Amino acid sequence: MSIYIGTHLATEESRPYNFHMCGIVGYVGRAEATPILLEGLRRLEYRGYDSAGIAVVNGEHQFETRKCAGRIASLAKLIARKPASGHVGISHTRWATHGKVNDENAHPHFDASGKIALVHNGVIENYQALKEQLIQNGDTDFRSDTDTEVLAHLVGNIYEQLDGKDSKARLMNAVRAALKQVIGTYGIAVVHANVPDFIVGARRGSPLVLGIGRDENFLASDVSAIVAYTRDAVYLNDFELVALEPDKFEISSLDGAAGQHAVSRVEFTAEDIKKGDYPHYMLKEIFEQPFSVRDAMRGRLSFEDCTAKLGGLNMTPAELRKITRIVLTGCGTAFHAAMVGEYLIEHLASIPTEVEYASEFRHRNTPMTPDTLVFAISQSGETADTLGALRESRQKGYRTLGICNNVASTIARESDGGVYMHAGPEIGVAATKSFTSQLVILTLIGLLLGRMRHLSTAEGAQLIEALENLPDKVQETLKLSDRIKTLAKKYVDVSGVLFFGRQFNFPIAMEGALKLKEITYLYAEGHPSAELKHGIIALIRPDLPSIFIAPEDAVFSKNLNNIEQVKARKGPIIALTSGNGAGRLKGIANDIVTLPSVPDCLMPILTVIPLQLLAYHLAVELGRDVDKPRNLAKSVTVE
Ligand code: G6P
Repeated sequence: MSIYIGTHLATEESRPYNFHMCGIVGYVGRAEATPILLEGLRRLEYRGYDSAGIAVVNGEHQFETRKCAGRIASLAKLIARKPASGHVGISHTRWATHGKVNDENAHPHFDASGKIALVHNGVIENYQALKEQLIQNGDTDFRSDTDTEVLAHLVGNIYEQLDGKDSKARLMNAVRAALKQVIGTYGIAVVHANVPDFIVGARRGSPLVLGIGRDENFLASDVSAIVAYTRDAVYLNDFELVALEPDKFEISSLDGAAGQHAVSRVEFTAEDIKKGDYPHYMLKEIFEQPFSVRDAMRGRLSFEDCTAKLGGLNMTPAELRKITRIVLTGCGTAFHAAMVGEYLIEHLASIPTEVEYASEFRHRNTPMTPDTLVFAISQSGETADTLGALRESRQKGYRTLGICNNVASTIARESDGGVYMHAGPEIGVAATKSFTSQLVILTLIGLLLGRMRHLSTAEGAQLIEALENLPDKVQETLKLSDRIKTLAKKYVDVSGVLFFGRQFNFPIAMEGALKLKEITYLYAEGHPSAELKHGIIALIRPDLPSIFIAPEDAVFSKNLNNIEQVKARKGPIIALTSGNGAGRLKGIANDIVTLPSVPDCLMPILTVIPLQLLAYHLAVELGRDVDKPRNLAKSVTVE
């Protein structure tokens, strides 16, 4: 076995275990595995980018292993220096939430014999007990601090004890037996150097998908890693294993029963996940919003009945009419969409609606009426907390629907129905187009439920007309990009930014602050404008500008009062407004940005755009890594 590792040594304090929520790619076929694995890892880098590694089996049944701390680019350099050739291999890109980032902790990990390589996403909670058990059996040669290595050793240990000429069945059985001892979560890929053309995959709580090719098969934690090679995919369920060979695959349960599988056609192509002429995915995705907003409502508007058609909800009109309460749950940006959703649904349908952080909802006793409808909102459909909330809600017997972008994601599959965003792949870690798609869908839900209650035909028709025109308004809003760039240059030295908004735009203040924090690392807070005087006003100073989201809507004059309060304390003010707002803000705000006009309830879909652009341009000015901000990951599949 030849292991080449990089030289980067991290200085962080060593911790006894690691949590992973990273990317896995596996390949078995006739082609050279390494370029395919590397390309797949690049596609997954947005999920984790602390360290990376590959192990391929060469012609002499030896592993060629390359792994190092740092980005995929560092791994690629390592491989350029020491090429690794073979037709079967596994690889991994890591994002650690605990434990140090170094070459040794990078995956793949090996068993004691060095013959079994394993990559893993998730966390093995009882790894310590398993390790002690292995040590007692004389297996002491651990090279990393990871829980993953313990699993690799366990598989190897069991493999040695099993008999049988059929080495493939033996490896499957060893993995199966090892996983039965595991408490925790995993998506894994396992290869044995002496079992040719064979990969074992398994999942529990961490996504895994197979890509079916011709005389080649792929395994990945996210379909975007393999869509360049095949668009035929099979999504594994929890407690399922897969045996992968170049020309076949077999799915079975942890108990050994043969599994069912359905082949799905991936909606997007490899072209969709290219940056094209854009310097960053985030900018590309911001500029895709006229299309993603259109796609979120495509085929879902009924001009005849002046309502929305959402067949994926899997609910009859009678069931929908019975709903007495709605709970919207999600994390991060999806949570902010849920906050706008509360305003939208209560405004359009008058159904009491509550928003809960998924992480809170899943662990507390939220009082629920029997006719409560729960929505889990998640771009990726894999966020651990949102998935936990969904499962908790279903377990308690509530109908739980998903609003997801990632087709066939765990949340989409485990919910009772839902609405897909159809926004196309979102690669930039900071969510942008998925947010506006979520807002469109929540508007459609409000419209549908509203039209079953008090909302008139005329009101329904007006909203539909406004929705129809919305993509053009989004396009018009994007023309502000250069103006926002100028503002970013002007405000590049600020110590932070405060964001304020009222009603529909209060959550946008929070989302604007989140975008800024995520990619510029500047201090930022978002609040309802009127809360200013209850504490935040103490922060006002010349190097801390306030951004007011103040379209010319029902609460414009109220916002104006708050703007005056900041001005009186010499705080710089940037105002986002619409209609005649600019005239009234002149001489008060330092900078005024005027957006197109839309009905109040749709305004958040426009007001968030200049805030996305501001975060983007400021991050570029500050030299930040826009698409891969420090410490963040696109999809957080650990609690
Ligand atoms: C992470 C990302 C955020 C995202 C959140 C929820 O924290 O960094 O940008 O909003 O997860 O993701 P989801 O896929 O569930 O929408």
